[in-house]
Amino acid sequence: MTRREVLLAAPWAVAAAASSSVRFGWIGVGNRGTSLLNLGLRIPAIDVAAVCDLDPARAAAAVDRVQTARNRKPASISGGADEFKRMLDSKDVDAVLIATPMHEHARMAVAALDAGKHVVSEVPAALTVEECWQLVRAAKRSRAKYIFAENVCYYQSNMAVLNMVKQGLFGELTYAECGYVHDTRNLQFTPDGKLTWRGEKLNQPGNRYPTHAIGPISQWLGIHRGDRFVSISSQSSRAGGLAEYTRRKFGADSPQMKVTAAGDSNVSLIRTAQGRLIELRYDVLSPRPHPSTTYHNLQGTLGSYRDEERRQEIWLDKRSAKVAWEPFEPFISEFDHPLWKQNKGGGGEAMHRGADQLMLADFASSLLEGRDSPVNVYDAAAWSAIIDLSARSVVAGGAPQEFPDFSAA
Ligand SMILES: NC(=O)c1ccc[n+]([C@@H]2O[C@H](COP(=O)([O-])OP(=O)(O)OC[C@H]3O[C@@H](n4cnc5c(N)ncnc54)[C@H](O)[C@@H]3O)[C@@H](O)[C@H]2O)c1
Repeated sequence: MTRREVLLAAPWAVAAAASSSVRFGWIGVGNRGTSLLNLGLRIPAIDVAAVCDLDPARAAAAVDRVQTARNRKPASISGGADEFKRMLDSKDVDAVLIATPMHEHARMAVAALDAGKHVVSEVPAALTVEECWQLVRAAKRSRAKYIFAENVCYYQSNMAVLNMVKQGLFGELTYAECGYVHDTRNLQFTPDGKLTWRGEKLNQPGNRYPTHAIGPISQWLGIHRGDRFVSISSQSSRAGGLAEYTRRKFGADSPQMKVTAAGDSNVSLIRTAQGRLIELRYDVLSPRPHPSTTYHNLQGTLGSYRDEERRQEIWLDKRSAKVAWEPFEPFISEFDHPLWKQNKGGGGEAMHRGADQLMLADFASSLLEGRDSPVNVYDAAAWSAIIDLSARSVVAGGAPQEFPDFSAA
């Protein structure tokens, strides 16, 4: 039996019998794709069989990286926006990692799943509710797996909290606060003043990047594991931060001053079927320092946790000696997730508190071992649907919008 035949015969276990690595094709080798490629090349379970980018120079640079690290030349694909489909026809590729701009994620993932290739998709998974449905349906009809690369779920502290939640240390969970607050005004324009793909979306209302904030919170609350999002209402502040930046960067009379934004801070309230409430903030245009671009706070009937600006603190009714926040560090040692225990030092500080390398290694081993997707398509769809639903709510003056039940597909 060839390796390909093994894959087709046992779709949930990527050629595990034939190989100890998954043959990946990398689609999009810009900033994020290259960063993930560098980490992937440190993981023996990841083989890079092909790379693809619209920009031939970026594809060539990625080929060089693979060649230097692995002494092997991957196939190189570049040119038009649909050239990635050549990778999907290749019998040398088992899985694709998608790190293109976000408006490309859903259509690329659907095409890959339909071609029988496993998908690891960068965040967000999709931009509209309709795209979320397309993705869920494609994953259901495919024999390949969909894995959502929500790396913040892999932070050591977030995984330790998940462990503690499962052991009941916070009691019944009632409320959570989270946010993505990251001054990215420098990413909205190219150096010569054109709008980047991020800049093109500045006038879209609502929360355009929810998954880093909502991902860990959803895992703690057991979304799709006993609870689900029911409705969202969302409002935005007026805009101001971008104009201030543009004035300083390009000048008060520059054409860039005509670029407008829908608003600076967006806040959504999400209700769950079990009556929990989540407050979710998004802001990429306000000036501020950001030791961390995300925050995650949790309230239960027996305790409380907060992680803001890289400082994690906890208070537990039955354990804390005083009514005062305690540093979380000792709890990490006690409740460290097995993945982090096994990988101590493996990820180090390499990208996002060491989580990115651990995440990629977990994804590759989940495919090799035939485990369920670590972050599945229902998570991806519900978390990403916030983009569309929050925008609709803002336009409707904050009126609640219902979440579809993607798991009922
Ligand atoms: N998880 C994280 O922490 C994290 C961090 C940064 C970015 N991201 C996500 O990663 C994605 C990429 O972000 P980035 O900063 O690397 O952007 P980027 O613009 O630097 O890179 C995107 C690359 O995709 C290529 N591309 C575009 N369309 C393509 C197509 N049709 N076929 C092949 N290649 C194509 C571009 O040429 C470019 O090289 C975004 O969706 C972003 O949301 C995630």
